[in-house]
Amino acid sequence: MNEVEKLEARYIINTYGRKKEQNLFLVKGEGVYVWDNRGNRYLDFVGGLAVNLLGHCHPEVVKAITSQARELIHTSNLYYTRPQAELARILVEHSAGDQLFFANSGAEANEAAIKLVRKYHYPERYKIITARHSFHGRTLATVTATGQEKYQQGFAPLPEGFSYAIFNDLSSFEELVDRKTAAIMIEPVQGEGGIHVATPAFIRGLRELCDRTGALLVFDEVQCGLGRTGKLWAYEHWAVTPDLLTAAKGLGGGMPIGVMLARSGVAEAFKPGDHASTFGGNPVACQAALAVLKVLLEKAFLDGVWKRSQLFMSGLQLLAASFPKLVKEVRGLGMMVALELHEPLAGQAQQECQEKGLLVNAIGDKVLRFLPPLIVTEAELNRALTVLEQVLAGLQAVN
Ligand SMILES: Cc1ncc(COP(=O)(O)O)c(C=O)c1O
Repeated sequence: MNEVEKLEARYIINTYGRKKEQNLFLVKGEGVYVWDNRGNRYLDFVGGLAVNLLGHCHPEVVKAITSQARELIHTSNLYYTRPQAELARILVEHSAGDQLFFANSGAEANEAAIKLVRKYHYPERYKIITARHSFHGRTLATVTATGQEKYQQGFAPLPEGFSYAIFNDLSSFEELVDRKTAAIMIEPVQGEGGIHVATPAFIRGLRELCDRTGALLVFDEVQCGLGRTGKLWAYEHWAVTPDLLTAAKGLGGGMPIGVMLARSGVAEAFKPGDHASTFGGNPVACQAALAVLKVLLEKAFLDGVWKRSQLFMSGLQLLAASFPKLVKEVRGLGMMVALELHEPLAGQAQQECQEKGLLVNAIGDKVLRFLPPLIVTEAELNRALTVLEQVLAGLQAVN
C-alpha cells in the first residue's frame, strides 16, 4: 500500500470500495487522457462518469475558474452575483425550462425537483412514479426514487409515495397512475441502470399520460443531458418536453454544480424560504459552466459529436459481430454507450482495458459503459476500439 492508500484506508469511510487490483492513482489530466503516479497515460472513456464533457482541464474552463477565483470565490445567496444570472439565462434560453434552481449535484437537483413537484400539488397529490433500474441519486428521497432495491437496503423507513414501473412499458406506468400521482420521473436514457434508451412511443406516451392526468413529467438528464447524446438535451431526440428537467455532472466542467429547471406555471410553486442551498450557484462553478456551454453551443460542435458517436457505435457493432459468443448487445445514444456481455466478465474486461491504457467502466458484472469526453477524436475512438478488440480476443481465447 502506498502512503495515499494508507491514509485513505485509515481516514475515509469506505463507501467506494475501491478495488485493490485496479489500484489507479491519478495525478494529471489533459484532454481525453489521464496520467497515473507512475507516469502511465490512459485514454479516459469513463470521463469522470459523464462529467468531463470537454475532457480534462479544458483551457477555457481553466481560464474561467482561475479568473473568477481571483475576483470572488463565494458569497451567500443573500446577494446577487452576475455569473449565476448569466448562466440561468443561457440554460433557460436553451431548454424547456423557464426558471431554475441551482444546486451542487445531481441528487440535489433531483431532490429540488421532487420537492417542487410536491409543493406544486400540495396537499392533493404527492405520489411519484419512477422506472425500475433508474438512478436518481443517494439522498434519502432520491435513493427512494431510484428504482433499484440494492441502493435502498438498510435505510428504511424510506419516504412515502414512490412506486416503480417498467422502463419502456407505457402500460405499466398507466397502471400505477391514480388521483394522487404528482409526477412521473424518468431518465430519457438510463445511465447507471445499464444504458437503456427510451423508445419514441414510450416517451411520447408518458407525455400524453401526464397531460391527461395532470401529473408533471420530470426528466432526469443528469447523465444524458448537455450534449452527451449528440443533442444538447436527450429529450430533443423525441421532440417531447418535460415540465421539470434536471442536470448536473458535465455542467461545470468538473466543478460541482447541478440545476433543476421548471416550466412557468410550475416554477412559481416555490416561494422564498421553500428551498435553498449555501453553495448553489457558486460563482466559480457558474463561470466554469458558462465556459462549458459556450463550447457545447458552438455551431457544429454537437453535429461533430453525433457523427463521431455513429463511428464509435458502428465500430462496436462490428466487434459484437466478430465476438457473438462474448457480446450480447451494443446499445446507447450518442456518446453514452454500453456493450453487454453474455457472461459476467465485465470486471475482467475493464481491468484488461486498463492494463492496455484504456479506462472503461463496468456496471454490474456484464455491462461495459463508455462515456468518452465529447471532444474525443476519430483516432482516439479507433484506438479504444482496437484495445477492446484485443481484450475481447483474449477473453474469447480463455473462455
Ligand atoms: C441520472 C442520474 N441522476 C442523478 C445522479 C446523481 O448525481 P450525483 O452523484 O451528482 O448526486 C446520477 C449519478 O450518477 C445519475 O446518473
